[in-house]
Amino acid sequence: MHFKVTPSRIGDAAVSVPGDKSISHRALMLGAIADGPTRVIGFLAGEDCLSTLTAMRALGISIRQPGPTELSVDGVGRDGLCPPSADLDLGNSGTAMRLMAGLLSGQPFDSVLTGDNSLNSRPMGRIIKPLSQMGAEIDSEDGRPPLRIKGNRSLRSIEYVMPIASAQVKSAVLLAGLYAGGTTAVVEPATTRDHTERMLGSMGVEVFSDMGRIGLQGGQSLTGCEIEVPGDLSSASFLMLAAILAENADVLIKGVGINPTRTGVIDILLAMGADIDVCDPRFMGKEPVGDIRVRSSQLHGCSVDPALVSLAIDEFPVLFVAAAAAAGETVFSGIGELRVKESDRIAAMADGMRALGITVQESDDGAVVEGGRFCGGRVDSFGDHRIAMSLAVAATVAEDAVEVRDVASVDTSFPGFVDCLASVGADIELLEDAR
Ligand code: S3P
Repeated sequence: MHFKVTPSRIGDAAVSVPGDKSISHRALMLGAIADGPTRVIGFLAGEDCLSTLTAMRALGISIRQPGPTELSVDGVGRDGLCPPSADLDLGNSGTAMRLMAGLLSGQPFDSVLTGDNSLNSRPMGRIIKPLSQMGAEIDSEDGRPPLRIKGNRSLRSIEYVMPIASAQVKSAVLLAGLYAGGTTAVVEPATTRDHTERMLGSMGVEVFSDMGRIGLQGGQSLTGCEIEVPGDLSSASFLMLAAILAENADVLIKGVGINPTRTGVIDILLAMGADIDVCDPRFMGKEPVGDIRVRSSQLHGCSVDPALVSLAIDEFPVLFVAAAAAAGETVFSGIGELRVKESDRIAAMADGMRALGITVQESDDGAVVEGGRFCGGRVDSFGDHRIAMSLAVAATVAEDAVEVRDVASVDTSFPGFVDCLASVGADIELLEDAR
């Protein structure tokens, strides 16, 4: 499958985006081990979260789906999960694998976590290390999946100073910590998304967070609740950039999560001169939400503040496009984590930008992008959803048609992306590859 995008006229529009991926995964996992039912509204029915849904069903959880984005999870309590009869296949999802590893380390049965080729080549040592310190037993092939998790281990609490800023590692340790005696805590080198902490709080678990040290007392029970999932800011960022790059656009994206641990992309785009307003701030449960209004703007290059990296970790592909369309040079540093996402996102974006006529210099953990104009051509997503969508946005302002190859992965996080981008005026088609 590929996208064909031709120069587009993004205009005035009001849209919404599918539910937040991180929150949807957590609603399933925490709802499963809560006492009583959890109702989820606005669930992201993308492939990644559906992998988690299938895995939770394989662990004995009854989950009804009365509508495409509505779930009812019959929680079985902390100790109610059942042994799976087969390996749990988590597809493309690093979040599912790392959080499930934490959850399953505390269970009385064995389990095996596996995924697709991309996931099976991603580093899991970052969770194996702290979970092993807690007493978990996890076998892997050189720190890569499949992960073979031994059950019936009695977990002990730890204080873990995380060498990398990762919400997935933090969440894995906290979930295992629910099954450990004593207080388990992590110390973050930089703030990461705090959806696990907020949702545990909504379910009655006491979680502390003090100057980057986050933890909980083991043995606490969760109580099922109603979770309304905000629109995913990571998905909204593609529409935001399409509007910014257009000539006369004014786009309102309604009901988007604006949790401050996620809003780095807004801060970086504002620093580059974007015209963005967050309107009508409100809450969905414990998650802050707003409507994001974006108007066409002339961007200028900047040196992106490394302190914002963990708050915008999934938005760097689209920020490369912003940098390429900005006047002057943009310097990204401290983004080495991008090399171990669904693809090597620094290399993938450098490749895509160069194919569209932009000058990019790469380093191990950064890049320098020279602003310019996109030409037409053919670019590759490397099977990575965020690369595919970022390149499609670039293509809306290219001088000629652009073909973005290998885009089926877009469904992992943004089902309906083509229709959504088209609804703001993009000229985009999803086409089968010629044989
Ligand atoms: C996620 C955390 C991030 C992010 C991923 C989702 C989560 O990973 O890249 O898409 O839901 O916890 P890291 O925290 O490991 O960087």
